[in-house]
Amino acid sequence: MHSNPEPRDDQPRPDRLVVLGTGGTIAGRADQRGDHVGYRAGEVAVADLLAGIPVPVGWRVQAEQLAQIDSKDIGPGVWRLLLARVRELLDQADIGGLVITHGTDTLEETAYLLQRVLAPAKPVVLTCAMRPATALAPDGPQNLADALVVAAEPGARGVVAVCAGRIHSGLALRKVHHYRLDAFDSGDAGPLGLVEQGVCTGFQPWPVAEAADCRLRPLWLDRLLGSQSWPRVECLFSHGAADGWLVRALLAQDALQGPERADRLRGLVVAGTGNGTLHADLLAALLEAQAAGVRVWRTTRCASGRVLLAASSPDLVPAVALAPAQARLALLLDLLRA
Ligand code: SIN
Repeated sequence: MHSNPEPRDDQPRPDRLVVLGTGGTIAGRADQRGDHVGYRAGEVAVADLLAGIPVPVGWRVQAEQLAQIDSKDIGPGVWRLLLARVRELLDQADIGGLVITHGTDTLEETAYLLQRVLAPAKPVVLTCAMRPATALAPDGPQNLADALVVAAEPGARGVVAVCAGRIHSGLALRKVHHYRLDAFDSGDAGPLGLVEQGVCTGFQPWPVAEAADCRLRPLWLDRLLGSQSWPRVECLFSHGAADGWLVRALLAQDALQGPERADRLRGLVVAGTGNGTLHADLLAALLEAQAAGVRVWRTTRCASGRVLLAASSPDLVPAVALAPAQARLALLLDLLRA
């Protein structure tokens, strides 16, 4: 992994890591110790999760409970809290990095949003668990210990996720399994590195700011933090018999409510078949949506891989090389530039 420049000798070396709790299975509680499914996410306080977890040598660790939710229910409210608090904490010179405990279900969305909007020069490490804190053999404690190791790693930067000993870029990861402890994958990009026995081994550089985003980040922060309603972007799939009924229903609903509403439909992400191909009848409806002013992007519904553009065929609906839920956020950010 490529490193940041070391702090100059006249600058105090950061010695504080902060763990922000947001809930998830890692903070989940079940009535039976053997129950890995019927638990309640987001019940155990983040300070309690840290009990007995090794603290990297030379660092102090503090816990802060930012939210306590099942991450399937995340939305602009918690994302706004995270964006604001992460930015505020990272501005403090004695803080070297952050860990965020988060549910696995939408972790890829939060990681993507934080990296695109903040692109931090310090590490922001999301971690999680597939078994609740009350399980016979919970995976959360090891993931949390590994996340602290990554947050304390010299030169670490950017938003990453640590799960089952693997470090994933916040821009590439995707939840690929509903039950396995190693539930995440970085697709063809592969993981950034590993954490084994408290040691990081890197294969790829830490995530850095996308060049085109640098100019936009202050505007995004201003608009995301300042507005209660973010642009409405909905997701749908192409599938057998996809005849565009859903798209036309959305357009009709919008027409009924009037075009001036803040929560009107602004974008659609369609997860196409294979290389992002769309049922011809769905495509016809999507072109109607585009004509009505709705931005439409397509991606693939395949669990892995990305859409490849053919130079020869006209791109009626622009394609994006992201998982559908991340593509939704990417389109939302794009709409905020306008
Ligand atoms: C959640 O996403 O909050 C629940 C599921 C999990 O963390 O694995």
